Amino acid sequence: MDNQIGGNGASGSREPISFLVFSASLRTGSLNTRLARLAADVIEAHEGTVDFAFMSEFDVPSFDQDVQDSEGFPPGAQAFYDRLMKTDALVIASPEYNASFPGALKNLIDWESRFKPQPFNARHVLLLSASPSMVGGNRGLWSLRVPLEHLGARVYPDMFSLAQAQQAFDTGGGIASEPLRDRFEKTIVAYMDLVEADTHYACAKKAWFEYLGEPLTPETEREE
Ligand SMILES: Cc1cc2nc3c(=O)[nH]c(=O)nc-3n(C[C@H](O)[C@H](O)[C@H](O)COP(=O)(O)O)c2cc1C
Repeated sequence: MDNQIGGNGASGSREPISFLVFSASLRTGSLNTRLARLAADVIEAHEGTVDFAFMSEFDVPSFDQDVQDSEGFPPGAQAFYDRLMKTDALVIASPEYNASFPGALKNLIDWESRFKPQPFNARHVLLLSASPSMVGGNRGLWSLRVPLEHLGARVYPDMFSLAQAQQAFDTGGGIASEPLRDRFEKTIVAYMDLVEADTHYACAKKAWFEYLGEPLTPETEREE
C-alpha cells in the first residue's frame, strides 16, 4: 500500500526533515564514514537534508563529574548537542570494537546525557555499521542500543551492517552488491518516512522517566 504521507519522496511531497548523519570513527579512510556518506546521499536523494558530522569534531575528555561541575561542558560536547538539537533525527555509523561500540562514542554519549533537556530523549536514531568481519559490526550496534534506549531514544528496529566492508564498495564508492544496495536504500527511506510522520504528524505524548516518583537529590540527579 502506498504511504499516505508522501513517504518515499519520489512524488516530491515529503515534508521537511533533517538528519545529523554521524560517523563514529576517528580513522582516516574509515569504512563507517564511507557508509555514512552513502546514507547521506540516499537521504538527500529522497528530499531530506543532511548535516554530516565526524567523530573528530566532538573531541571530549573522559567524563568526570568534577570537570563538569567546575568547567561545564567541553566544546566538543556542546557542539554535538547543538547539532543534534538543530536536526530532526540522527543516523550513526559506528565501528565495532571488541564486540561492542567504541569507548569514545560511549564517552560522548555520557557527556550528552548530562544536558537538560537530555537530547536523546524521544530522538529517532538509525544505526549503521561497516566492518571487515562477516557480520559487519552488527554486535556493536546491539550494544549501542543499550545506552541510547536507556536515554529514551527511538532506535529504529532495522539496522544495516555492511559485512566484509573492505571489499563491499564499488569503484564509484557505492555498495557493489545490488540486493544489499537495495536493502540499504529501503531501510533508510523507511526510516525517513517514520521521522517525517513523527515530526509532522505527531499525536502521542512522550516522556522519559528514570526514577519514577523519586524526588531529585544530588545522588539521583547524577544518575539521571
Ligand atoms: C580495538 C579494535 C577492536 C576491533 N574489534 C572488532 C570486532 O569486535 N568486530 C569487528 O567486526 N571488527 C573489529 N575491529 C575491526 C574494525 O571493524 C575495523 O578496524 C574497521 O575498519 C573500523 O571501522 P572504521 O573503518 O570505520 O574505522 C576492531 C578494530 C580495533 C582497532
